[in-house]
Amino acid sequence: MNYLQEIAYLIGSVGFVIGLKMMGTADSARKGNLVAAFGMAVAVLATLFLNETGFHVIGNLGYIMGAIVLGTVVGTLMAKRVQMTAMPEMVSLFNGMGGLAAALISIIEWTHLQHTGETVGLGLFVPIVAGLIIGTVSFIGSMVAWGKLNGKLGDFRFPAQQYINALVLALIFVAAYLTFNGIGSDRMMWFYITMVIAIVYGLLFVFPIGGADMPVVISLLNSFTGVAAACGGFLYDNNVMLMGGVLVGSAGTILTVVMTKAMNRSLTNVLIGMVGSNSNGGGAAAGAGGSVREVQATDVAIMMKYAQKVIIVPGYGLAVAQAQHVCHELELLLENEGVDVKYAIHPVAGRMPGHMNVLLAESSVSYDKLIEMEDINPEFNTTDVVLVVGANDVVNPAAKTDTTSPIYGMPILDVDNAKQIVVLKRSMKSGYAGIDNALFYDPKCGMLFGDAKESISKLVSEVKAL
Ligand code: TAP
Repeated sequence: MNYLQEIAYLIGSVGFVIGLKMMGTADSARKGNLVAAFGMAVAVLATLFLNETGFHVIGNLGYIMGAIVLGTVVGTLMAKRVQMTAMPEMVSLFNGMGGLAAALISIIEWTHLQHTGETVGLGLFVPIVAGLIIGTVSFIGSMVAWGKLNGKLGDFRFPAQQYINALVLALIFVAAYLTFNGIGSDRMMWFYITMVIAIVYGLLFVFPIGGADMPVVISLLNSFTGVAAACGGFLYDNNVMLMGGVLVGSAGTILTVVMTKAMNRSLTNVLIGMVGSNSNGGGAAAGAGGSVREVQATDVAIMMKYAQKVIIVPGYGLAVAQAQHVCHELELLLENEGVDVKYAIHPVAGRMPGHMNVLLAESSVSYDKLIEMEDINPEFNTTDVVLVVGANDVVNPAAKTDTTSPIYGMPILDVDNAKQIVVLKRSMKSGYAGIDNALFYDPKCGMLFGDAKESISKLVSEVKAL
């Protein structure tokens, strides 16, 4: 055993753990990312230049370096150019690449074992076939999620979808069993059949899911990729790969559970592709309809300047309008006037986990002003004005009252408990779930129509002018 390689792997693993821990809070998240990347660099270098016997340059170094340079250039350019609103698509795409890599490892190792004619015991077979199945599902599922998020792919549903998904899942296990027990060339054939069924499952799993449940699926696919990578770690007896895979797998699973709780969905339903199958369907919320009250910036500015407490509820529209900086300006202005200002953060506001935190941190809003849903909800009934900036689904009372609504059961921000509500959006169009919002017809609610950045800029000028 080469202790240098073991030590390098240990440094890499510790880097992952510390980095992940630092990503838990917005102020240390950037540094956490760098620490984890450093850990990964150490692990990769140790794999390339050290092995059991000491210093050793791995074979095919030219190809490997070429791939690393290509991946670094493409990844850096994509990450620099991506719009904040397109971030979930990019996460899906990158995650899919991880799944593909894990599946390719399994294909290469299985082909190699078949050529050498080596006897493959269950201990070796399980990580190979699990890496193939999970990696393939993760790759295909992530590609479908990517296509759906950027609008290139629509929803695809047929009756009894969930039963067929369960059947296809069972078929994967049958094919895997036949791969293990097959003889000669049959084993290679069954291996590929297992892969093809996994491809079909990946398609059927993600295609029917639409609307508000897509982030759950992306997070779940992310955890799949982690598990598939961990299988590679088992296969190569590589501790740092195992550790990295387990961390991604468990972090993805925890995030999935947190999100399913936030949306009041069951994980079993996610696994058989039932979630959100009727989201984006455009059903009307209970009580929706009637007339809305349009308000002007001048009136809203007066309301806020003379309020004691204002809560700002950011949503996806804040990201689209890039209104975070001017929003922070308004917050500071109101605080100068003695108003208590806070932000209410819904766990699935925007289009990715932590979307609002990232945006507001970018404009230097103090972290202690960002209050999580459970903590802020009891505060709404003592709030004078709630300013809803481009949020819709996360403040839709149908989630509490309309059992037929696709978002029924999703915990929401109880903004309707406040004394006055002002909603900033461009039109009466629905949000991500495609449903009407009864809040907009609440007599306490005023609609300030227009792009959020422009509307808040007007509010800033009006407050200054008062
Ligand atoms: P949404 O319900 O999607 O509503 C956003 C609203 O912003 C829209 O109604 C839109 O109305 C308005 N808007 C868009 N551009 C605007 C602009 N330039 N200025 C002002 N308003 C603008 O947003 P939400 O309340 O944040 O809810 C998030 C939804 O996305 C949930 O259903 C959630 O489940 C889902 N989702 C979340 C995630 C994660 S993890 N965060 C990922 C994927 C999906 P107008 O068009 O009338 O302006």
